[in-house]
Amino acid sequence: MAVRVLVFYGSYRSDRMAIRLADYVVAGLRARGADVELVDAKAVGLPMLDRMYKEYAPGSAPEALETLVSKIRASDAFIFVTGEYNWGMQPGLKNLTDHFLEEWFWRPAAIVSYSAGRIAGARSALLWHGTLSEMGMIVISSKLAVGPIAHALTAEGKPFGEAGQTLDHSFPRFADDLFWWTEAAKMQRARKAPPY
Ligand SMILES: Cc1cc2nc3c(=O)[nH]c(=O)nc-3n(C[C@H](O)[C@H](O)[C@H](O)COP(=O)(O)O)c2cc1C
Repeated sequence: MAVRVLVFYGSYRSDRMAIRLADYVVAGLRARGADVELVDAKAVGLPMLDRMYKEYAPGSAPEALETLVSKIRASDAFIFVTGEYNWGMQPGLKNLTDHFLEEWFWRPAAIVSYSAGRIAGARSALLWHGTLSEMGMIVISSKLAVGPIAHALTAEGKPFGEAGQTLDHSFPRFADDLFWWTEAAKMQRARKAPPY
């Protein structure tokens, strides 16, 4: 059975660039046989964190949270497409992830960073690594770093130029690494129920 992967992207800007990178990642994993879905934080539209999902009485959480939690629980791995604002994380994506904790546990996560320049969101990737680890995900060592984002992918998500070539060259190993950990974690969850 195909592994199920959620790809998260969290820019709320009207002129956002990296939806093309999220689309590229979704298409690349789908071409390799994964069952992939994009979770666009802007489209989900959660308000600033009030209660975490687990803090609602059963059946009383807002519909957007219930829908999202079902998708997270049904998934085997997560990819976070992370931009960089002032050396930090994009708040929309961080706000979405903070609504959950145990729901993320026992699955691998991978980081795909990007930015307007050649630093390719490396500082946000560093921050996300610690955060995803704290949230109980196994953050794989393979990462994609894309920059300058405007000179890597067309609006349709097709790679071009030097940055696009680098992305295309790096993607297979990144996907292989993610799938290896995804299958390993999936087998172990089936073999032995997580302790909590
Ligand atoms: C508020 C803000 C802060 C930014 N800070 C950084 C930064 O610290 N480092 C960087 O490389 N690019 C920075 N940029 C440029 C972004 O990398 C670039 O605009 C990128 O396209 C943003 O992602 P998005 O288009 O998906 O929203 C910043 C952009 C914005 C809007």
